[in-house]
Amino acid sequence: MPVIGWRTFAGAAQVDQHSLLDHPRHLPTTSGRAAILLALECLHVGPGDLVLLPTYHCPTMVSPVKTLGADAAFYPIDEHGAPRLDWLSAHVPAHVPASIKALLVPHYFGLPQPMEAVRAWCDARGIALIEDCAHAMFGRAGARPIGSWGDVAIASLTKFFPTPEGGILALNRTGLTMPALTPASRIDQVKAGSDILHMGAAHDRLTGLNRLIRGAFALKSALRRLVKGGPAAGSQAPPSRHGELDEAEEIDANMALIDLPLSHRALTHASGWISRRVPRRRIVEARRHHYAFFTEAFSHRDGVHPLLPALPADCAPYVFPLWVRTPDPGYAEMRKLGVPVSRWDRLWPGVPALPGDAGKSWSHHVLQLACHQDLTEADLRRIVEQVERLFITPAAPAR
Ligand SMILES: Cc1ncc(COP(=O)(O)O)c(C=O)c1O
Repeated sequence: MPVIGWRTFAGAAQVDQHSLLDHPRHLPTTSGRAAILLALECLHVGPGDLVLLPTYHCPTMVSPVKTLGADAAFYPIDEHGAPRLDWLSAHVPAHVPASIKALLVPHYFGLPQPMEAVRAWCDARGIALIEDCAHAMFGRAGARPIGSWGDVAIASLTKFFPTPEGGILALNRTGLTMPALTPASRIDQVKAGSDILHMGAAHDRLTGLNRLIRGAFALKSALRRLVKGGPAAGSQAPPSRHGELDEAEEIDANMALIDLPLSHRALTHASGWISRRVPRRRIVEARRHHYAFFTEAFSHRDGVHPLLPALPADCAPYVFPLWVRTPDPGYAEMRKLGVPVSRWDRLWPGVPALPGDAGKSWSHHVLQLACHQDLTEADLRRIVEQVERLFITPAAPAR
């Protein structure tokens, strides 16, 4: 996950990269999942309704549906991650029941999907399209800016900016009402600002201030212990985001129902300020560079291949998807070693095996390698070395 440091503010400040933050009708939210929940509420999804979701998913895409008492029906994706519209057409009745409210389509890994056909499919049936841009903050999807195809679109700020929280809800269909959120409390405001600084100092990114900030937080927690009593160990740990939980904790948190009050709370000023002010060019260029580096490193190798080697113009990838022939037990070892990698292997219970679906296979074979802007060349080389050690069959010596 990106962490604040002086270099966060390096580079051109001008807005030369379209992002969902420029959407004319957008609302900052506390997370991407909160934005999905608010999107569903805007579309009047409730108990007894059905939302169509892809078989390849993170549980945070499903839990907002369940939180509102609606049901999820899973659809298959093709080898590019696009919805299998042939399957959907065959399985959604011609007279669409009023209960089928929405189709959620993600731009996986930050690579914008062509959306014309999906938009037309939804229009023909009166089903709302939720464009999930949690991985895709920047760029265009075909003829339109990212986030302008769905009746509603959502995004996640923490995946691109050094903020402890944040998401976006964007409304495209006229007639939808922007939700009113409760303001963040003064404590939330102060905590967000101090979490951002504490995270930067804990990672040694704020040269000149690291010791001062870490000292201030150490003093604060010592005083708190003195007043409240309690354990000394671990109390100086920097704040954690979902990206910093261990894997089991992270999955459990993601499977849980959504925190409703938090989803209806406005984003804090500090997180909003960071996401608006940080120069974007460095984020986009560094991520594209890292993606190209991995594509080069993992092409023509035995045992792995880049899942989607072609990077569309001016998007910023969220992660690098690597297809691995035998991902276990190497994946668990990578996690244990702290290599920044994840896999969407815990699907929502009851996801069916569907003909022609790439989703279930991806959830086993696709590793998502970090490619965010704060990784160094040394970090990239270490990731490549681990992949080579664990998954790549060495070429046989020439005779
Ligand atoms: C495709 C997709 N949509 C939505 C979300 C939810 O975003 P957030 O973590 O900001 O709640 C995620 C989170 O990983 C995601 O991968």
